[in-house]
Amino acid sequence: MKKAVKVKPLNFSTSWSYAPAPEGTEHVQLKDRYELFINGKFVAPAGGKYFDTINPATEKKIASVAEAGATDVDKAVKAARQAYDKTWSKMPAAERGKYLYRIARILQEKARELAVIESMDGGKPIRESRDIDVPLAAAHFFYYAGWADKLDYAFPGKRSQPLGVAGQIIPWNFPLLMAAWKIAPALACGNTIVLKPAETTPLTALKLAEILQEADLPPGVVNIITGAGATGAALVNHPGIDKVAFTGSTDVGKLIQKALAGTDKKYTLELGGKAANIIFEDAAIDQAVEGIINGIFFNQGHVCCAGSRLFVQEGVAKEVIRKLKDRISTLIVGDPLDKNTDVGAINSKAQLSKIKTLVNAGIKEGGECWQPDCNVPAKGYWFRPTLFMNVAQSHRIVQEEIFGPVLAIQTFRTLEEVVEKANNTPYGLSGGVWTDKGAKIFNVTGKIKAGVLWANTYNKFDPTSPFGGYKESGMGREGGLHGLMPYVKLS
Ligand code: NAI
Ligand code: MG
Repeated sequence: MKKAVKVKPLNFSTSWSYAPAPEGTEHVQLKDRYELFINGKFVAPAGGKYFDTINPATEKKIASVAEAGATDVDKAVKAARQAYDKTWSKMPAAERGKYLYRIARILQEKARELAVIESMDGGKPIRESRDIDVPLAAAHFFYYAGWADKLDYAFPGKRSQPLGVAGQIIPWNFPLLMAAWKIAPALACGNTIVLKPAETTPLTALKLAEILQEADLPPGVVNIITGAGATGAALVNHPGIDKVAFTGSTDVGKLIQKALAGTDKKYTLELGGKAANIIFEDAAIDQAVEGIINGIFFNQGHVCCAGSRLFVQEGVAKEVIRKLKDRISTLIVGDPLDKNTDVGAINSKAQLSKIKTLVNAGIKEGGECWQPDCNVPAKGYWFRPTLFMNVAQSHRIVQEEIFGPVLAIQTFRTLEEVVEKANNTPYGLSGGVWTDKGAKIFNVTGKIKAGVLWANTYNKFDPTSPFGGYKESGMGREGGLHGLMPYVKLS
């Protein structure tokens, strides 16, 4: 009789290593100081105030950026109104489309520079900014360029008219991509814009302002003003805007909703999430493990649709958790500009402290916390990929959005049980299901209350596909044909 051979498990963390492969930065053109982009020109803020944007991987300052006060917001809104009345709403739709195509092409030409700036300013791995953020931003402009002169087909039997001036406020997790999500459909429908990027990641939006100049977009059609929450609030409350489009925290979303109650401003809100990724016993386990990793560690978990809750069917729980730990141990945490990096820097000190607070709460509540023993750089904001086992529905880490690389794992026995648990959250943005059976996919996805559901994959985006949530995850849809709706009046 043959003796069973004992195979020594691979020590993934040391079984191989990669030589550093940093992306070059010599081609990147950045100014030391950025002004506000109003009426086609860069202008100094009336109050003369500036703030720093830093690189979260090094904590070093990259540039100072103008802080827009109420006077500047007013100037930007007036410029947008004038451009709307005099130019943009009068321009033949096919001409509007040409500008969008031009912007899309320049984005492609400058893709490498934009990707590097995105990774420097926000901390995300260059692999993501290069392969996802920037190409998808260009794709959104291409896609909506095509709609500009075909709105009659988008809304058959109806006449569509633009709303006027849109105030758009975006977050720091996908800075250029969020700008594209907001700007492209609004322009295609004939609106003009005042956009406010997030205070920790303003640089790619300001590079986009330069691109708009290069594309000869008429002055005032898109204005880009920088600043923090107060600037955003001044924009929301300005009487001269017709629509607010916001992506960010549920707390600020609620403030905006309150501020707009009783006004005739239209609004769309893309807020937080606490998505369930569900693995059934019949799933292709290795594939599912890869999908879970992508679902929560992609962009350091700074993703509103991140698969931050994992539900594993009992029979495969041990195997899935073992494989997850093995795979996480191979992830490279570090320099966002290195092409091998899987997990980059946490976007800001404030976000890092929020993650730490919630992880500590998880430990206090009795969750079993696991992290790989990987090294992280001494300077900068870092958080190791983290798993939590033995958690309960009532735990804060199961209920609250962490927006970091932290996965809470629970097990389940039946389909009914997992659907109930998955829906037991104030959010309803996204989710994932992994199974070999098509019927089960339809059964589960029909019962999960979320706007976006992926089956046997995760975090896939496409400009043709609508995106948006239910409950406290927001209202309205962006992307696809649906993404035109919030920017038109139909008659
Ligand atoms: P935030 O909601 O404060 O920031 C998002 C944007 O809103 C930024 O441009 C900010 O300057 C602006 N803003 C802030 N206060 C405002 C106000 N009163 N009126 C108008 N605009 C305002 O989000 P923050 O503080 O950066 O992140 C906190 C949490 O929010 C994160 O930990 C995460 O859980 C969640 N979040 C969700 C995002 C999503 O994609 N759904 C994106 C960013 C954060
Ligand atoms: Mg920054």
